[in-house]
Amino acid sequence: MKIIIKKNKKEAAHEAAKIVVAELQKNARLVLGLATGKTMIPFYKELVSQSKKQKISFSQVTTFNLDEYVGISSENKKSFRYFMEKNFFSKVDLQKSNINFLNGMSKNFSHECARYELALARSGGIDLQILGIGRNAHIAFNEPGSSEKSKTRKVELSKETIKINSSPKSALTVGISTILRSKKIILLAFGKEKSQAIYNALHAKVSSNVPASFLREHKNATFILDEKAFSNIKKLK
Ligand code: GLP
Repeated sequence: MKIIIKKNKKEAAHEAAKIVVAELQKNARLVLGLATGKTMIPFYKELVSQSKKQKISFSQVTTFNLDEYVGISSENKKSFRYFMEKNFFSKVDLQKSNINFLNGMSKNFSHECARYELALARSGGIDLQILGIGRNAHIAFNEPGSSEKSKTRKVELSKETIKINSSPKSALTVGISTILRSKKIILLAFGKEKSQAIYNALHAKVSSNVPASFLREHKNATFILDEKAFSNIKKLK
């Protein structure tokens, strides 16, 4: 596990975008795993600006987002699809047909989740997965209790997550095993409210109680943090 600490979220987002741009320069057909949430806003801003400066095209890139709320359509401002259109998809030359998303309006969730796993496998797998982290150390929507072997599925969200995200009660999410299959992983976390989750991810016993702790078992995972997310780490238990 590699840890990079930057002064603030702008510098951390800059660093993460620099790594993605370098990967895109090596491989124009990159398969990118993408995340949503406030943490991702400065990251997408940086990625759009750096890729414009470096004249990077996304025309051959394939993307897979981690999760989506159940019962919310892509036009709904609360949907992750809407977030992605606004912050990233509309700003780069990605081909619509190369954008993959879980459909929270599906009539058959198990079928929808199996379809997603198959699409992931057919793409050759995620080359680079970007992750955020919840305050309870969830990754994607794998809440505490999620198995290391979990795949894409429908999940019930924790009370804490529903409150913080003011979200619906359930979601579709890739599993922990789906995430761990990615060739390279970058997790971003900013702010004091994430410091306990980061501490637990790095130091607690690797277990379902702390979903992000499973990342310690990955060969190529990097945490990019601002000083606040790393700040109280020594004091926390
Ligand atoms: C949601 C997403 C996660 C994300 C988390 C943190 O729960 N499913 O993928 O990491 O929010 O969001 P934020 O960056 O807003 O703190």
